[in-house]
Amino acid sequence: MNSDSDLQIAGDILEVPHLLQPPREHPVTVAEFAGLARAIAADRAQWAPLVQYDATSRWYHRLRTAPGYEVWLLSWVPGQSSGLHGHGRSSGVLTLLEGELTERTQRGTRTLAAGAQRVFAPGYVHEVVNDSLEPAVSLHVYYPGLTEMPMHTARCEAHAPQDPARDALTA
Ligand SMILES: [Fe+2]
Repeated sequence: MNSDSDLQIAGDILEVPHLLQPPREHPVTVAEFAGLARAIAADRAQWAPLVQYDATSRWYHRLRTAPGYEVWLLSWVPGQSSGLHGHGRSSGVLTLLEGELTERTQRGTRTLAAGAQRVFAPGYVHEVVNDSLEPAVSLHVYYPGLTEMPMHTARCEAHAPQDPARDALTA
């Protein structure tokens, strides 16, 4: 008995199912989506055999679609860039699986190494580019699923010229 409380549970808690929360159909919180991304990242057999690299167009593959969210797998050869873009009404979790990517926003530039995660809310605008000399692979969870990726014309810092027509839907 907890001496700090007068509350006691008598009997088996499983006998009172109305006191339990119903199971969720999909992740709901930021922590749950970040955890989902980490779980997929740790399961290399789930994504590594699918990865392709395309020097002419950024490669992407929808790994999973589920109620409330989508998971995309992207590859980046050196020099490839998303361009500066938003994500409509979607929130997202960007997770680096392999290599290194640079993220540029109005607030600055950061380098993302394998294992790094970036969580963003609707309205977040960034550019992701592979400034390294090695290919990179990233995982992107969007909730809800990405329905638009508006491109922005303003540049962030030393943003290299890019062709929007080359850019894939996701980043
Ligand atoms: Fe993005």
